[in-house]
Formats: sequence, C-alpha cells, structure tokens
Amino acid sequence: MPLAKNEYMSDIWKDGLFNNKVVFCTGGAGTICSAQVRAMIHLGANACIIGRNVEKTESAARDMATLRPGAKVIGIGAVDVRKFDDLKAAADRCAKELGSIDFVIAGAAGNFLASIEQLSVNAFKTVMDIDVLGSYNTLKATLPYLMESGGKHRMDSETLTPHPGGTGGRIIFVSATMHFRGMPFQAHVSVAKAGIDSLSNSVAIEYGPRGMTSNIVTPGPIAQTEGIERLLPSDAKAAYKKSQPLGRIGHVRDIADATIYLFSEAGSYVTGQTLVVDGANWRMSGGL
Ligand code: HXC
Repeated sequence: MPLAKNEYMSDIWKDGLFNNKVVFCTGGAGTICSAQVRAMIHLGANACIIGRNVEKTESAARDMATLRPGAKVIGIGAVDVRKFDDLKAAADRCAKELGSIDFVIAGAAGNFLASIEQLSVNAFKTVMDIDVLGSYNTLKATLPYLMESGGKHRMDSETLTPHPGGTGGRIIFVSATMHFRGMPFQAHVSVAKAGIDSLSNSVAIEYGPRGMTSNIVTPGPIAQTEGIERLLPSDAKAAYKKSQPLGRIGHVRDIADATIYLFSEAGSYVTGQTLVVDGANWRMSGGL
C-alpha cells in the first residue's frame, strides 16, 4: 500500500509554520543570523534579537517588524553575551513581552585572523568568552523557556502525530568548519567552535528527555558576510567561486533554509547533529 504523503514528508515552508512562536537570537542583527530570523518571521514567528550595538540591533528589529503584518520584534542592544545577567534579563523580557521562547539561535561570535604568536592571552580568552561562554550563557538564560516549550510541543511518540500547536524547545548553535581539520590564524576560533559543538551534543543528550532538540548549523563561505569580505579580496571572488564544488559560494538563504528545516516538524528526530551548509567546501579545502 502506498504511503500517504504525511508519512514520508512533512508539509513545511508554508505560511504560518511558526505562528504564535518566538525565536530568540544572539547576534541577530548580523548578516547570517538576521536572515535566519527574517525567514522565521515570514513564516509566522515573533522575534527577539540581541546585540552589543544598540543602534544596529534596534534598527534591525524595526526593519524586521515590517516583514509581516502583525509581526512583533524586539531588539535588545547593549547586551554582552559574556555577561549572564545581561542575557537573563533579555530572555526574561522576551518571554514576558512575547509570551514564550520556543526557538533559540546562539549566533553571536567574535573573530579575527591572528597567528598563535600574535595572539595575546587576552585575545584568545576574548574569543573563548564571546563564543563558548556566550553560547553557554545564551543556553542557560533561555533553558527554562525552552524546556517549557519542548515539553508542551512533543510529538506523540507512538503515532508520530505532531503537536497541533507546532514545534518548540529547539536550539541551534552557529558554528564553523575550521576546527574539523585545523586552520592557520584561526586557533582561537577553532578551539571555541569545537567547544560549542560539544556543548550542543551535551544539550541534545541531557535535554532530549525534556522535549528539546539541539543542533549545530555550520555555514561555509557565505556571500556578504564579514568573514568572507575580510578573507577574500573582491578581485579573487570569481575564481574562488569557480573553484568550489558547486561552482558558487553560499547565500544566507542556504543557512535560513537549514534553520527552518531543523526548527520545523521535518527536523523532529534530528538532534545532536552538525548540519554543514558549505557546498562541500571543507571536504575539498579544509574550510574557506
Ligand atoms: C590580534 C586582536 C585583534 C586582531 C583584537 N585583538 N583584535 N589580536 N589581532 N585583529 C585582541 C586585543 O588586542 C585584545 O587583547 C583582545 O583581543 C580583546 O580585544 P578588544 O577589542 O578589547 O575586545 P572586544 O571589544 O570585546 O572585541 C571582541 C573582538 C571584536 C572579537 C576582538 O573583533 C568583536 O567584537 N567582533 C565581533 C564581530 C565579529 O568579529 N564577527 C565576526 C564573526 S565572523 P590585548 O592583549 O591587547 O588586551 C566569523 C566567521 C569566520 O566568525 C570567518 C573567518 C574570518
């Protein structure tokens, strides 16, 4: 007997997919994270974006609120992810004003190119603090809300019937590929991203029983990002694209689509994973 459509695929990417849901995102005004949040807003979510720069964060939030009639978007600037109290206050405000936190994107990161000799101890620590401690603080500040949402939106384990209210209780950490093999001038970031990957795995195991999923999304070279602009002079871009397995570099939409997948019903059984969205860049060249 042929399978019914809903037995082999989920009906995703549809209007209203994230209706009545709230996404909390650190680094939400940045190029990649803002695309992730924008996509979710289009599909019905309300959002709270967090950043260090007040003007940039608040203006991004105002702009995002225009994407869908009725969308509610809060921009909370002057939040340093290294400070747990800042994040806790932001998470509590988000839940109070928007009603819940169903999805979290831990996207805030710090990076610069420096050799190990050039790197001061404080420079190394700064990146560890922004990336690893910042991701941990983001998780810890939002955990009570994620557990509540995850517990509420469980899929029925016998019939695989999705919760009628959709999904919730999911976190994505934004990572990188450089630590898979090692990369010059990126020792600090590589150590930090390895730590973040490990944190996500622990969350998947420890909080799966509470209805949560935790995954890593790993962008490869993505057009228009600070990273690619810094690494690739404009006259080298065309040749670089041609050298890539798919003949192109990534687009923020690639990362947004991966995010929607992991947060949607289609991603219900995917947890503790790293979704590398890099067009096989790292397999070919070790990353970037
Ligand atoms: C060597 C550097 C440095 C550099 C800073 N430091 N920049 N060392 N090379 N280019 C050192 C400083 O001298 C200092 O050490 C220590 O790092 C802390 O610097 P501060 O400026 O005081 O820190 P802070 O103001 O907190 O800024 C953090 C930051 C900054 C990471 C340095 O760049 C930042 O806030 N970036 C956020 C945005 C960002 O980087 N996004 C990129 C993500 S892209 P001393 O010893 O002097 O006290 C990405 C993809 C990767 O992640 C793609 C590859 C590039």
